[in-house]
Amino acid sequence: MHILLTGGTGLIGRRLCRHWSAAGHRLTALSRQPQRVAALCGEQVRGIADFAAYGDEPLDAVVNLAGEPIADRPWSAKRKALLWDSRVRLTERLVDWLESRSQRPAVLINGSAVGWYGDAGERPLEENSSAAGEDFASELCLAWEQVAREAEALDVRVVLVRTGLVLAPEGGFLKRMLPPFRLGLGGQLGSGRQWMSWIHIEDQIALIDFLLRRADAAGPYNACAPQPARNRDFTRELGRALHRPAVLGVPGFALRLILGELAVLLLGGQRVVPRRLLDAGFTFRFPELPAALQDVLREQH
Ligand SMILES: NC(=O)c1ccc[n+]([C@@H]2O[C@H](COP(=O)([O-])OP(=O)(O)OC[C@H]3O[C@@H](n4cnc5c(N)ncnc54)[C@H](OP(=O)(O)O)[C@@H]3O)[C@@H](O)[C@H]2O)c1
Repeated sequence: MHILLTGGTGLIGRRLCRHWSAAGHRLTALSRQPQRVAALCGEQVRGIADFAAYGDEPLDAVVNLAGEPIADRPWSAKRKALLWDSRVRLTERLVDWLESRSQRPAVLINGSAVGWYGDAGERPLEENSSAAGEDFASELCLAWEQVAREAEALDVRVVLVRTGLVLAPEGGFLKRMLPPFRLGLGGQLGSGRQWMSWIHIEDQIALIDFLLRRADAAGPYNACAPQPARNRDFTRELGRALHRPAVLGVPGFALRLILGELAVLLLGGQRVVPRRLLDAGFTFRFPELPAALQDVLREQH
């Protein structure tokens, strides 16, 4: 199979490239720095700077993950425009390019996030029985998914991967959380009651591969382990896995003051159920948080 990735140089993309190269697939990654693709994704992966550079070669699948990191900085108007353009506008260009091709891929696997649901409190969230939220992150995911779905009119199977917090040794949100925890300065955020839907990076790669190969998979899939954790329980497990106390905590008002609108990502939460993956027969290798954290932190040492 020839697979085109956007965001192939990212946390999830690099692992996908390694996984699919080993399985013998041919890979191309769209990147703002195509010259770095081989070093980051593997020697066999070709880097291109724009879709047109893909050429006339047959294309079997597209995996669209590119996007400016959402939780790195407060959401100023400029930052929001960058977050939007790097996902929604880039996906519009992708769909336009697919339309212009005489040969189209069978499937588009598009990124999204559990933030699609907004801060949903205690409600368990399944794909087909829940409404989208109304904060900026929800609007962004909603628009990103809607644009991707335009490829359905081109006879492309569109899969939307609503990803939770990815636990990985080499990066992502856990790596940012670790320094204070290692110093014994970690603790819950706000009330600590908010739900965190998480997934081990190995399960994330396995489920994207599963959805690629399942010809009947289409529409939204929650990509998170079947047992989400409250922030205070996640905090306790992380402290335990690191053999450090995790009792300090940050009050909600302080986070709102420092982070503004972005604080909703930390103080709000989603209790997400991966209903459609479970119904499709996907098996999680890391369904429980303590084992997932231990595995990820073991690889860090
Ligand atoms: N990791 C998570 O916990 C998580 C959770 C939910 C959703 N997601 C979503 O899933 C996708 C992949 O996640 P990830 O963690 O692998 O992301 P990542 O490590 O941040 O990588 C994203 C990639 O997107 C490209 N990119 C960044 N800023 C861009 C911009 N301004 N314009 C165009 N391209 C840009 C970069 O590729 P180049 O530098 O090569 O251009 C980068 O490698 C993201 O869209 C993310 O929001 C991730």
